[in-house]
Amino acid sequence: MSQVHFIGAGPGDPELITVKGARLLREADVVVFAGSLVDRELVRTHAPNAEVFDSAGMTLEETTKVLAEAVAAGKNVVRLHTGDPSIYGAIQEQMAELDRLGIDYSVIPGVTSAFAAAAALKQELTLPEVSQTVILTRIAGRTPVPERERLAEIARIGATMVIYLSVSMIEEVVTELLQGAYTPATPVAVAAKVTWPDEQVVEGTLADIAAKVQQAEIGKQALIIVGDVLLARREGLKAKSLLYDKGFSHEYRKGIIT
Ligand SMILES: C[S@@+](CC[C@H](N)C(=O)[O-])C[C@H]1O[C@@H](n2cnc3c(N)ncnc32)[C@H](O)[C@@H]1O
Repeated sequence: MSQVHFIGAGPGDPELITVKGARLLREADVVVFAGSLVDRELVRTHAPNAEVFDSAGMTLEETTKVLAEAVAAGKNVVRLHTGDPSIYGAIQEQMAELDRLGIDYSVIPGVTSAFAAAAALKQELTLPEVSQTVILTRIAGRTPVPERERLAEIARIGATMVIYLSVSMIEEVVTELLQGAYTPATPVAVAAKVTWPDEQVVEGTLADIAAKVQQAEIGKQALIIVGDVLLARREGLKAKSLLYDKGFSHEYRKGIIT
């Protein structure tokens, strides 16, 4: 009995899909892909012989019908999502439909754009004595956000924050972040179309990032990264991690006591 494989395509670069995801795509007879965010070229590269459907103009009922018919015909079926499917991927509702129809499926993770953006910046998101927490979030748009998760509310923590789906509301984002633990001097990076040929990265502070984003004419496929970890490349590290400290013993290495 065939099944549907939900696959994370990664942030854009066709080489950033997992080996398993690429193999399942190569074997696929039918691919339904999120055409608003996944490059058709990536689908052609990995699944040159598959019948391809772009879900951008389809409803949940329509995508489910394509998936269900392909499974019923015994075909290899892939539902391809951008980044990692578990982050703003709208896969839960698709899996619920497949459950209702008694269709089996698996989920193959992918590189979410937050981690591709950190790589583009050559930036660790968790630094000792600065922030040991990363919050992945968004501002409320047409999709509401629970009141307790308002940006202004979670900004009180002051952790590293990666904000998806929000760059078109950069001014509102800044206003809300300033109601929390951040200040006008807090560093911010905006990374657009990361790993695509037209990738753009703009850095600034909460005081000037909105103007810089506007000036760079950044489109909506962008992330906002905020937090003091971003200072490390400019000002150096506050502290090094214990993991490689010569005085620190752990399961795999005996520390040297001086
Ligand atoms: C519907 S969400 C999908 C997120 C995706 N599942 C992921 O894990 O990256 C779309 C948002 O992800 C972010 N995004 C996706 N790909 C991106 C990329 N290559 N560069 C920057 N941001 C990206 C943007 O914030 C965009 O508005």
